[in-house]
Amino acid sequence: MIVQRVVLNSRPGKNGNPVAENFRVEEVNLPDNINEGQVQVRTLYLSVDPYMRCRMNEDTGTDYITPWQLSQVVDGGGIGIIEESKHANFTKGDFVISFYWPWQTKVILDGNILEKADPQLVDGHLSYLLGAVGMPGLTSLIGIQEKGHVIAGSNQTMVVSGAAGACGSLAGQIGHLMGCSRVVGICGTHEKCLLLTSELGFDAAINYKKGNVAEQLRELCPAGVDVYFDNVGGDISDAVISQICTMSINFSSSLAVLYFHLQFIFVKNYICIVQMKL
Ligand SMILES: NC(=O)c1ccc[n+]([C@@H]2O[C@H](COP(=O)([O-])OP(=O)(O)OC[C@H]3O[C@@H](n4cnc5c(N)ncnc54)[C@H](OP(=O)(O)O)[C@@H]3O)[C@@H](O)[C@H]2O)c1
Repeated sequence: MIVQRVVLNSRPGKNGNPVAENFRVEEVNLPDNINEGQVQVRTLYLSVDPYMRCRMNEDTGTDYITPWQLSQVVDGGGIGIIEESKHANFTKGDFVISFYWPWQTKVILDGNILEKADPQLVDGHLSYLLGAVGMPGLTSLIGIQEKGHVIAGSNQTMVVSGAAGACGSLAGQIGHLMGCSRVVGICGTHEKCLLLTSELGFDAAINYKKGNVAEQLRELCPAGVDVYFDNVGGDISDAVISQICTMSINFSSSLAVLYFHLQFIFVKNYICIVQMKL
């Protein structure tokens, strides 16, 4: 059977922006038979995530993710349905999920890398298992639970950068649910600002491409900022940190800028962090 797959065609270079030409779609033959322990699956959903930018480099810069190889199929979080199984845990029709899913329409996989995906958990919306109920959701939830120091009823203000992204949009909502009285998002377009305030329950939003972020923060957070969920680092975080007195900060997520400008521009105001004893 002929199937389609996406392979890495070229590397954007350490500091380059990825372009479509870095990828290539090609056709390959899928073997007719599967071996013991294997399953044949049809791909339903694939997740495209920021960490993949690092996988496009020869050296990812970390030891917990490996580089994609040139002319090899790329992979990441994915969900599919079993079409044929020779693995004891799975039968035809099961939905399955893996963090190492090849970007290929149909594929033969080792059943041991798969977990069952229960559609009932997400009211039939399987893709949620890669989003709000998957890695981005956990990143936001655990970040706030572990590092946010949110105390319900204590009138805290939370600021979220990258607020319209997968993690940020959830972080703001979780902040509210956990008891922050005010949540302000920072994002890059007017439309995203509207989405945050009209649909996702943010109290206010700042378009960092229009006007001075620090001034807008002063205006929108008159009582200061208590919790900062940082998705981007760089100048935006610098602006937030530089004018805040007491806050909790979650840096675990803050790499979006770094991925695209692989240089040390993380945060300049370290002295504030030391003074705030974060
Ligand atoms: N997704 C996960 O499961 C996960 C897990 C662990 C860590 N993280 C980290 O969390 C961060 C956010 O991930 P995500 O999945 O939410 O990403 P995302 O959905 O792509 O959102 C990131 C947002 O960052 C903003 N951004 C990009 N470049 C920027 C820049 N130079 N300056 C300011 N803002 C910029 C963009 O929004 P605007 O267009 O509004 O600028 C973009 O929508 C990333 O660093 C990621 O590595 C994510």
